[in-house]
Amino acid sequence: MKKIIIATLSASALFAASFGAQAAPAKAATCVGCHGADGNSVVPNFPKLAGQHANYLEKQLKDFRDGFRKDATMAAFAKGLTDAEIKELAAFYASQAPK
Ligand code: HEC
Repeated sequence: MKKIIIATLSASALFAASFGAQAAPAKAATCVGCHGADGNSVVPNFPKLAGQHANYLEKQLKDFRDGFRKDATMAAFAKGLTDAEIKELAAFYASQAPK
């Protein structure tokens, strides 16, 4: 299982390196409805993720997941994420241009 994850991660890293843009991680599919495909949410209630610092995004997601930052909606979406998936999501949204 671990090997598959590592293989998937390095494959997407290669993809990103060769095309000069970072591909959206698989888990981002569940975030699109509220935060937009590239983290530029269109609804003011949903914070924009595009261009925020990766370390900040990573911490917020872990805090939602682990109950240090309270928001019922985000807790539900962060709940199933592993540390590696959170890192990948944070790097992806940080690399997107804010609009
Ligand atoms: C149903 C709508 C919804 C979905 C789906 C959703 N979010 Fe959120 N997200 C929110 C709301 C609302 C907030 C603001 C919570 C608060 O007020 O603390 C938020 C906040 C955040 C923040 C903190 C932003 C900041 O500036 O502090 C991050 C990071 C985040 N979401 C990432 C994600 C990721 C990654 C996913 C997918 C795994 C996701 N969200 C899915 C609604 C959603």
